[in-house]
Amino acid sequence: MKLCMIGTGYVGLVSGVCFADLGNDVICVDKDLKKIDQLSKGKIPIFEPGLEELVIKNFRNKRLSFSTDLKDSIKKSDIIFICVGTPTKKGGASADLSQIYSVAKEISLSIDKFKIIITKSTVPVTTGDEIEKILLKKNKQNKFTVVSNPEFLREGEAINDFRYPDRIVIGTNDKKSNKILNNLYTPLISKGAVYINTSRRAAELIKYAANAFLATKITFINEIANLCEKTDINIEDISIGMGLDKRIGSRFLRAGPAYGGSCFPKDTKAIISTAEKFKTNLSVIKSVVNSNENRSHLLLNRVYQILGKKIKNKKITFLGVTFKANTDDMRDSSSLVMIPSLAKKGAIIKYFDPTGHKKEFRNLKNVSFENSIKKSIENSDLIIIHTEWNDFRSINFKKFIKGKKFIIYDMRNIYLPSKIKAQGIKYFSVGR
Ligand SMILES: NC(=O)c1ccc[n+]([C@@H]2O[C@H](COP(=O)([O-])OP(=O)(O)OC[C@H]3O[C@@H](n4cnc5c(N)ncnc54)[C@H](O)[C@@H]3O)[C@@H](O)[C@H]2O)c1
Repeated sequence: MKLCMIGTGYVGLVSGVCFADLGNDVICVDKDLKKIDQLSKGKIPIFEPGLEELVIKNFRNKRLSFSTDLKDSIKKSDIIFICVGTPTKKGGASADLSQIYSVAKEISLSIDKFKIIITKSTVPVTTGDEIEKILLKKNKQNKFTVVSNPEFLREGEAINDFRYPDRIVIGTNDKKSNKILNNLYTPLISKGAVYINTSRRAAELIKYAANAFLATKITFINEIANLCEKTDINIEDISIGMGLDKRIGSRFLRAGPAYGGSCFPKDTKAIISTAEKFKTNLSVIKSVVNSNENRSHLLLNRVYQILGKKIKNKKITFLGVTFKANTDDMRDSSSLVMIPSLAKKGAIIKYFDPTGHKKEFRNLKNVSFENSIKKSIENSDLIIIHTEWNDFRSINFKKFIKGKKFIIYDMRNIYLPSKIKAQGIKYFSVGR
């Protein structure tokens, strides 16, 4: 099939290259000239395991191409996926849909024959209705259909998630489009993915409801971890004991810093805002958002306590700054709250992240990037394990920091407290 992905970011690039790998002809379009130029030279603008090889393979066999020419790419394609960003509106809580509507306007000017227009971006309920209205201004109803097909891949596991999804959600009442999309996804359905056809609005809401529920699970276990710290209980025992209940499930029950990333923070706020538009109070999700926003401050207070409230000139190392491992994505990472706050209080901060230095910290006084774990932790007073990269799981701390006392605050519980404490190192973790 001939596909066009509009927006070549984490979702558009990964799903585009995976569709190409399944034998389709895919054009990935972006308005970012630099990104398209890099991709055309085989350079991948994001960190995603396994992506580079797949892009190069499919670019070479000519199933995958890159373009900045939206009009031409739409003309050459039968199925158009909208994969642009839907961030939080500046100064608000609802989703900023300006990228979606601007693309819809551009599409409306380029429809020459029947096209299936799909929102893969996460969009609030009724966005599909709005896109349809925009397209109808320039086109007849029989020239297009607007479908919702939300994406559930996770950064860091994106290729595997795309290839082996739990489910594929297609929101449309149009039988012909449903059949075409079922064919497009047949290779994944035959490997076990459940294909669900529902209404467009339901598909839009499924994505937000799923993200809000996962965010709730994380926030729930984080709050239980707070109670564990006060009652001398190991949160991991609670997670195991709860998770074995099949009605609950063990995933997303790991205590740690506030959830971050490009989806949960913005999507939880956006669903609350959508519900308010429809005069519905989502009080559970509201509490989740509040609790999560407080969490970075709560963990910061713990850092102050650990350091005896003396922050000035303390040498603090952050191991990992991205919101989770195996991604370079910094969007809404809790390190963006913690590092500036500690630096403002006079701490001298070094950080190491396997995906390199971050522009977000470039202009902060007393914050510097080190290009190895060793360099980042030598001389440190406090090492904060912020992200659960495998690179951090077996560090010989005593070998790197000699002749000096230091403390470890393991925000991801990746070390066994007994083992670290047996080395005479002061060690703190989350909920245990
Ligand atoms: N990142 C994830 O893990 C993930 C997972 C599931 C769903 N989503 C959703 O998918 C959507 C995209 O997320 P992302 O992380 O890939 O975003 P992103 O910011 O990485 O990529 C969006 C891309 O769209 C491009 N773009 C914007 N306007 C354009 C236009 N008019 N024409 C062409 N290109 C344009 C941007 O230049 C950018 O490269 C969002 O709605 C997000 O919520 C993201």
